[in-house]
Amino acid sequence: MNSPLKVGVVGMGGIGHTHCRCYKNDALAELICVCDLIKEKADQAAEEFGVEAFYSVKEMLSAHPELDIVDVTTSGYENGSWHYVPAMEAMDAGKNVLVEKPISNEVTEAREMVAFAAEKDVYLGCNLNHYFTQPAERAMKYMDDGQIGQQVYCINKVGFDGSEMGYGAPDKLSRWQRPYSHAKAFLIHPFSVMRYFCGNVTHIQAFMDRPNARDKAGDLMLSIQSIHMKFENGCVGYLLSQRGDAAFGLGGWWSFELAGTRGTFVIENCVEKLTYFQAGKEPEVMDTGIKDFSSTFPNRIHAYLEDVTNQVPKDYLRSSGRDALACLEYIFAAIDSYESGGEIVRPHALPPMHGDPHIIH
Ligand SMILES: NC(=O)c1ccc[n+]([C@@H]2O[C@H](COP(=O)([O-])OP(=O)(O)OC[C@H]3O[C@@H](n4cnc5c(N)ncnc54)[C@H](O)[C@@H]3O)[C@@H](O)[C@H]2O)c1
Repeated sequence: MNSPLKVGVVGMGGIGHTHCRCYKNDALAELICVCDLIKEKADQAAEEFGVEAFYSVKEMLSAHPELDIVDVTTSGYENGSWHYVPAMEAMDAGKNVLVEKPISNEVTEAREMVAFAAEKDVYLGCNLNHYFTQPAERAMKYMDDGQIGQQVYCINKVGFDGSEMGYGAPDKLSRWQRPYSHAKAFLIHPFSVMRYFCGNVTHIQAFMDRPNARDKAGDLMLSIQSIHMKFENGCVGYLLSQRGDAAFGLGGWWSFELAGTRGTFVIENCVEKLTYFQAGKEPEVMDTGIKDFSSTFPNRIHAYLEDVTNQVPKDYLRSSGRDALACLEYIFAAIDSYESGGEIVRPHALPPMHGDPHIIH
């Protein structure tokens, strides 16, 4: 039996606490310490979880050279500008890193992180948790069993439930007060779901906007995205996203439909429901009874712990840094397209996977 992996969590906001609870409840992990630049936050979390507190990643790494995993749950501009520094420090010390999404808010930094993980031969994973669900698992089985066939189209609709009546303008110092804050912080989730089922995207065309309520309040965020894409396998796709500008429509906060020549599936509300359609037959419905999206966190974190425990080949790591980079490349391609008035953009190539000569033959 392997002993549990020793984990330190960096960044003790709400999500850092969620991750700590996952490690505390997972037999594959032992939470050793927490870290935040803000002393009170680190101290509060250390007391809550009964572990040691640190106020810098360097101190934490030198006090605990035995750590197997550093989990980076910091945030920053566009919810990602504070990921690069602690993740690079931890990888430099030879640690496996699980980083929250987006892998970074800058694609150049994300490329460096993925390259550095390969150089240091560590497991760099990202918390692309939206497809660590029962509906996604069952949907993938329909695909593996040949019940979808050749992919025809996919549609992903994502929206936070909201309205102009409930809208509150951000203050000047908010991490959201940037045009691409929603695109960079959030679209990595729907793109990760689309790529999980349909593979790499080769062409992207995007339109973005914000409603009048945001304009009037001086809110810079482009909160509406309409993105058209083509996948390497020939499938066409559409992603529609809005951040609380309108009420939920059908399918809850996100729904994903993938249609193929042999069948179609629809996931509703991320964790809640899967329906499989075949022409001329009654639909098959799986209602999970789960409403709580937060169940995706322990699922995804357990998968990372399993992969590191089992020392899977690095290319097989689920929801890897490279997977997260792919989605960020799509976001940057969408931004380029929007800035050019809707030109078609081909996303930047991903780093090749060479494999490990010790394993492949
Ligand atoms: N996967 C998901 O479903 C999901 C959902 C929500 C948020 N997130 C992501 O989780 C991350 C954290 O979100 P949050 O709302 O908890 O953020 P937060 O701002 O509340 O907390 C981040 C903490 O990190 C600390 N910090 C920053 N740089 C640091 C450093 N170098 N060393 C130590 N501490 C540092 C800050 O002091 C702060 O306490 C974000 O990247 C966000 O995008 C993911």
